[in-house]
Parts: sequence; structure tokens; C-alpha cells
Amino acid sequence: MIEIRNLTKRYGSFVAVDDISFDVERGKILGFLGPNGAGKTTTMRIVTGYMPATKGTAVVADYDVAKDPIEVKRRIGYLPETPPLYVDMTVDEYLNFAARIKQIETKEVSGAIDSACEKVAIGDVRKKVIKTLSKGYKQRVGLAQAIIHDPEVLILDEPTIGLDPIQIKEVRELIKSLAGSHTIILSTHILPEVGMTCDEVVIIQEGKIIAKDTPNGLAKSMRGSEKLTVVVEGPVEEVSNAATSTEGVSAILETSAQNGQCSLILECDLKHHVRKSLSNLFSEKGWSLLEMKVEESTLEDIFIHIMSGSGGRQS
Ligand SMILES: Nc1ncnc2c1ncn2[C@@H]1O[C@H](COP(=O)(O)OP(=O)(O)O)[C@@H](O)[C@H]1O
Ligand SMILES: [Mg+2]
Repeated sequence: MIEIRNLTKRYGSFVAVDDISFDVERGKILGFLGPNGAGKTTTMRIVTGYMPATKGTAVVADYDVAKDPIEVKRRIGYLPETPPLYVDMTVDEYLNFAARIKQIETKEVSGAIDSACEKVAIGDVRKKVIKTLSKGYKQRVGLAQAIIHDPEVLILDEPTIGLDPIQIKEVRELIKSLAGSHTIILSTHILPEVGMTCDEVVIIQEGKIIAKDTPNGLAKSMRGSEKLTVVVEGPVEEVSNAATSTEGVSAILETSAQNGQCSLILECDLKHHVRKSLSNLFSEKGWSLLEMKVEESTLEDIFIHIMSGSGGRQS
């Protein structure tokens, strides 16, 4: 449904988006993840036809954004980082205005507003002036204008930014409910968002794609190593030294000791049978093993792992 090929955007000599390519299949939600300044908003502005690319193509529903911008805009609903709301209007007045801008036929406007309000559950505030609404409701009104012309594709730029945890949950559920009938690209710099909402993830940093996978696939690809927590009854220094010299233990991430027990968090290479070696070693030494637990690597770990070394870029 969406095909991005070798997209590049330069601002003067600064390369904001650097030769990125990815696809989004019909009905799926793609999470576009990256730190601030990575190039997410720039990419979305190009895909929605608000800004030309320097190089490369974006095709939405078989229309090239550069060649058929009007056809593309008909098929796209766009929620920019800051929702384009006229805060002195009531919700109904604003949606009426949005419907006219999107050239919905006069006789269909009222039905389109009803349907959008129902989808984003704002039926109870339609007569209210937008500036009196909570941030969560404002965001939903922004979503209502994005879907009012029933577009096939939704481009949502950081849709949960600035919301409280309950509103975040509601907006995420709302977005999920829109998938299937819509194809969605959602940008975010916060990781749990993609795990909870998206079918696929593209991670972008400094304008380049550094990972492309499903949330589960990303987690799996990281499992060349695992974090192991061990609690042992024994002298902490000796236990740590013994653990460090065990084949497959690549690092000790944390050590603590209390009442003759020590607790270590180890990073272990999955190629070695570290757990077996450690339990044999501890029993040889006469230290009782009280606990041994593998910590699953979370998306958070993966994100930090991928990002580490190069850091983000300030926007
Ligand atoms: N109009 C512009 N002129 C010059 N540089 C820009 C412009 N818009 C964005 N940038 C720069 O491009 C980079 C990517 O920005 P942006 O796409 O907004 O990133 P993100 O949305 O991932 O935070 C940033 O370093 C930003 O400062
Ligand atoms: Mg942005």
C-alpha cells in the first residue's frame, strides 16, 4: 500500500533523510521509531505530499506522491505533530471545516462527521469549543479530521506525545481499532509504543534505517546474549571472580551482597552452556545456588543496544 524507495531529503547540505526504503502492507500498522531529530517528521511530510523529496520516491495506493499529489492526499489522513486545530471553533464547526477542505460533497458532510466522531469516540463533546477540551480529546479531534474523508492510509506523527498514561492507552487502542480498514504509519520516539501497537517496526537514526523487523523479530535477533541473574551463598568477591572466568560470561552488569548472599547480573553468550557451567562451579566450591533466572531482553534493551555508541541527534 505504501512503497518508499531510496528517499533522501537534504536541507542545504544537511542530510535529514538518507536513502531510506520500506513498504507497508495494506491494513498494517508500521511503527516508525527513532530518537528526536532522526528524520521521522521529514519522512512523513514527504509521504503526505507536504514537502518534496530531494531524491527517491514515495508511492501511496499506486500513486506517486511527486507526480499525483492530489490523488495521494485524497487517500491519506495526516495527523501532524501538533494537530492543526482551530481552538475557538466547536468540534462540529471544525470538522465541518475540515470536511469542506477535503472536498467532501455537501450532502455527505454530516454523515462523514458523524462517522468520524463515532470512530474516535468524541460524540459527547461535539458542541464544545476545542480550547476547553483536554489534551487527549484534542488529539482525538485531530484524529477525527485525519479520518473524516475515510482515507485508506493514515500518517500519524507522534500521536501520543504529551498525553497522560490513561489517554495514551486510549489513543493507542483507538489507533489499533483503525488498522485493518486503514494502513497506518505511526512515528514515535518511545519504544513501548511500537511493541504495543505495531505489526512492523522501522528504526531510523540520523536519517538512516538501522533496523527493520516485527517487534518480536527484533527481540529475537538480539538474543545472541542473555542476561542472567544468579543468587549464591558465598563470598562476593570470590563468586564474582569465578563467574568472570567462566567461559561465555561476557560481563558482570551488577553485583550486590547481603547477609552472606550475593546477587550478580551477568551478560552471557548463548553459544556457551553458561548456566550449567556456573551451577557445577558453584557446587564444586560449596556455594549454595539460591536462584538463577534468565531476563528476557525487552525491546527497550534492543533499542538502547542499537542506539548505543552513536546517540541521538538533537533537533
Ligand atoms: N526545515 C528544516 N530546515 C533545516 N533542517 C531541518 C528542517 N526540518 C528538520 N530539520 C532537521 O532535520 C533533522 C530531522 O528532523 P525531523 O524530521 O523533524 O526529525 P524527527 O521528527 O525524527 O524528530 C533534524 O536534525 C532537524 O533539525
Ligand atoms: Mg518529529
